[in-house]
Amino acid sequence: MQYFENEHIKYKNNQLYVDDININELAKEFGTPLYIYSKNHFINQYQEFENAFKSINHKIFYAMKANFNLSVVNTFVKLGSGVDANSEGELYRALKTGVDPSKVILTSVGKTKNEIKLGLEKNVLMIKAESEEEIELINKIACEMNKVARVAVRVNPDVDAKTHPYISTGLSSNKFGVDSKTALSIYKRRKDFSNIEFTGIDMHIGSQITLIEPFVEAVQKLSDLYFEIEKDGLKLAHFDVGGGIGVSYNSEQSFSINEFAEKTIPLFKKLDCEIIFEPGRFLTANGGILVTEVLYNKKNGDKNFVIVDSAMNDMLRPSIYQAYHHIQPTTKFGNRNDIVADVVGPICESGDYFARDREITQSNSGDLLALTSAGAYGMVMSFNYNGRRRPPEILVDGNKYDEVRSRETFDHLIYDEKIV
Ligand code: LLP
Repeated sequence: MQYFENEHIKYKNNQLYVDDININELAKEFGTPLYIYSKNHFINQYQEFENAFKSINHKIFYAMKANFNLSVVNTFVKLGSGVDANSEGELYRALKTGVDPSKVILTSVGKTKNEIKLGLEKNVLMIKAESEEEIELINKIACEMNKVARVAVRVNPDVDAKTHPYISTGLSSNKFGVDSKTALSIYKRRKDFSNIEFTGIDMHIGSQITLIEPFVEAVQKLSDLYFEIEKDGLKLAHFDVGGGIGVSYNSEQSFSINEFAEKTIPLFKKLDCEIIFEPGRFLTANGGILVTEVLYNKKNGDKNFVIVDSAMNDMLRPSIYQAYHHIQPTTKFGNRNDIVADVVGPICESGDYFARDREITQSNSGDLLALTSAGAYGMVMSFNYNGRRRPPEILVDGNKYDEVRSRETFDHLIYDEKIV
């Protein structure tokens, strides 16, 4: 049985803590399933990133899709971060935190008219465009609104990020961005777009990237393009390399942020513009846990099942990416054996599982388990299937904590419906 621990999530006297807060106590107060985050982990990750790039002109735009709880976004905004918003809903959430719209980037492979309009109305720093048709539309809408849209073209550099196929985005077979040739021709045609000012160039080659080489290769390709555009007489203000930096869920080794800086800073220094980063997972993943209670143990033939009160609707990653998350008791009992079991939720789908054939400590009904590395792409991907209410979220700050989102009520489940 392997245990996950870091500076902010660790055992003290065999009880799991997030900073100074005992998880068993929190679960008693708020029930399970329950998301718990360490604010100090988020802050440390942000500062580590900032420090690594302090020698260059850069800015972090937190990719809020990783964890868009208002208090989490606000944590980064208060540190000076910008925000990368992927829809009008995320833009709405971001602005609720009071972030200055000039620190917001609007992303998405398919923005609607309303999203483009909202971005222009709010005056976001820039809109990232992902097709020629979209650029035509942005120009038309900006013209109607009598505004000038600041736009960056998202380039698909055709580099294999060597990550899970569902979260690889930088290959020409992926739906994202436009190829370098198309991008160059768009920038060259800039006079055709009366109400667009091209202020940046952008890429994002995938997520949970653990190898540094694809990143460096993509930055190199994008900077070649940057110089061709410069040669054509256009000086871009922003060079956006997206997010994607991997974290350790299990034993995988990802490159460190300092290594990333060391390999890319020499390339960035050649560019005379601001470098933009959009990290999501790096900032939040390992600062969160999902706590669940063991309901039952059973055996079907030789196979052990641990049935818990949380399910794929609360945390989807294992079901759709076969993602690994440690699952560990919130109390370490010295006298328990390890067993090999599937840890499954109550939903009527065989894909509703957190682990398969996993060696875990034998647990009894009523015991609590923590699923670790749940701070990114956890709660944001939750849903109400099987009529399940979504869990609360607790933000721990040292020896204090706040319920930053409460458990959904039954009324939440039906508030927008009517019976006819
Ligand atoms: N920028 C853009 C344009 C993105 O599409 C993403 C993530 C990011 C930044 C942040 O990437 P990060 O630093 O978090 O890797 N649900 C999947 C991950 C999907 C990522 C989508 N885009 C998962 O649970 O692994």
